[in-house]
Amino acid sequence: MRFFALGPVCVFFLLLWVPACGEKVTSGSVNPCCYLPCQNQGVCVRYAEDKYECDCIRTGFHGENCTVPEFWTRVRLFLRPSPGAVHFILTHFSWIWDIVNSTFMRDFLMRLVLTVRSNFIPSPPTYNSKYSYLSWESYYNVSYYTRLLPPVPEDCPTPLGVRGGAGLPDPELLVEKLFKRKTFRKDPQRCNLMFAFFAQHFTHQFFKTYNRMGPGFTKALGHGVDAGHIYGDSLKRQLQLRLLKDGKLKYQLINGEMYPPTTLEAPVKMNYPPNTPQNQQLAFGHELFGLLPGLGMYGTIWLREHNRVCDILKTLHPHWDDEQLFQTTRFIIIGETIRIVIEEYVQQLSGYHMKLKFDPTMLHNTDFQYGNRIALEFDHLYHWHPLMPDALNIDGDTFTYEQFIFNTSILSHYGIEKLVESFSRQPAGQMMKKLLCNLKNFITVT
Ligand code: HEM
Ligand SMILES: *[C@@H]1O[C@H](CO)[C@@H](O)[C@H](O)[C@H]1NC(C)=O
Ligand SMILES: *[C@@H]1O[C@H](CO)[C@@H](O)[C@H](O)[C@H]1NC(C)=O
Ligand SMILES: *[C@@H]1O[C@H](CO)[C@@H](O)[C@H](O)[C@H]1NC(C)=O
Ligand SMILES: *[C@@H]1O[C@H](CO)[C@@H](O)[C@H](O)[C@H]1NC(C)=O
Repeated sequence: MRFFALGPVCVFFLLLWVPACGEKVTSGSVNPCCYLPCQNQGVCVRYAEDKYECDCIRTGFHGENCTVPEFWTRVRLFLRPSPGAVHFILTHFSWIWDIVNSTFMRDFLMRLVLTVRSNFIPSPPTYNSKYSYLSWESYYNVSYYTRLLPPVPEDCPTPLGVRGGAGLPDPELLVEKLFKRKTFRKDPQRCNLMFAFFAQHFTHQFFKTYNRMGPGFTKALGHGVDAGHIYGDSLKRQLQLRLLKDGKLKYQLINGEMYPPTTLEAPVKMNYPPNTPQNQQLAFGHELFGLLPGLGMYGTIWLREHNRVCDILKTLHPHWDDEQLFQTTRFIIIGETIRIVIEEYVQQLSGYHMKLKFDPTMLHNTDFQYGNRIALEFDHLYHWHPLMPDALNIDGDTFTYEQFIFNTSILSHYGIEKLVESFSRQPAGQMMKKLLCNLKNFITVT
């Protein structure tokens, strides 16, 4: 699945950052592409020591820096409503949307929502952290995240090309000035912690930076909604998590309720602090889901759902073997996930009055690319840590992060229902506005 409008958002973010930081370096021998001259996704090609040309083919623009719109681009730009206007319409005039929701227009507009946005995303994928030009390697090697914007050429005077300081800013300073929250503010769209942990749980199936290989690499080779956070990102891990009977996943029963097995029963590698006894290490598809009881809660819910669907399928298809029951259930779990993501999660996030719809047949007979590649910019933008509260309230008890993190007893001590209820009641923090404000202040002080 493509994750909607993130391409343009990334571009917006990076444009905000780049032009605002510092002065130009003027020197004869600077690679001219370090000035990042080519606009509108034109490609900078260096010709001589100090000569470049922008390749504007199929950008809809021409001119030295791909800034002059072609005729049809001009028409399109003139006719196309601004993203702000579209958003305003989608989040106001509920009487219109009440009509749309219950007629054929819903399908028509939903198709438009999906296809219009997917057109912003280059497909096949383009750059990655090593290649600022098109290459077979960056197309073929899925160990890389793709990149919507090419990396700054390596021989540039500064990390931003020619602007800003000669080195990257001090991370401590960045955190202090830009990211650190001084006072908690509730999310104005009224997201709760159930939403926050869903966001984290869901996105960690495709954001799995392979730090040992480098920040541009991913361990999630499926590049999308493959439920690798439930089943593991390799066949070996999947087999360790499977019961290998009736399609099911391994589990343990505590007080008659189903929970993930410990790593004694499912010997997968999990990241717990050293010295955590194995009988306290719960096993999940994702190595890090022991970190937070919120992730463990979702892991448990999906485990129960997987095994529930297996039971139903087995009664419907008594002759299916373990493998077919497992594979078919995984498909169903992925479908359920996408439906929840579109119809509840994105619905909540968007604030749209239009009722979004997941229907796999909707895009049949339309030009739609089903391939997908996760972009590095997408991962960076999805660091939604401001959603987290200052402390966690569970069933009347308050947990600091020290008490909450890696505390696997919370899951079975309170049980899934109590956790769902508590996380549904606690407001999440405000995400973006704060960061954008800080960013502006930061840029004006530096
Ligand atoms: C108490 C809660 C959380 C803790 C302690 C936590 C901690 C961390 C840490 C230590 C990292 C690795 C460093 C980094 O890439 O910045 C990380 C990465 C990340 N976090 Fe969180 N996080 C929390 C909640 C969330 C939530 C609610 C989201 C919502 C989407 C989120 C999204 C991400 C993403 C997308 C990454 C990058 C993952 C990757 O590329 O491998 N986190 N988090
Ligand atoms: C193209 O970009 C370069 C470098 O930023 C700039 O010096 C030049 O004036 C631009 N050309 C036009 C036609 O805008
Ligand atoms: C249309 O959908 C939105 C979003 O789900 C909802 O808030 C609104 O009540 C719906 N209207 C009708 C008539 O279904
Ligand atoms: C992808 O690129 C990395 C870094 O160059 C390399 O280590 C890895 O083997 C490549 N993977 C494939 C499948 O070629
Ligand atoms: C872990 O959670 C339990 C409640 O389930 C709590 O009693 C205990 O103090 C927590 N452990 C730590 C180290 O904070």
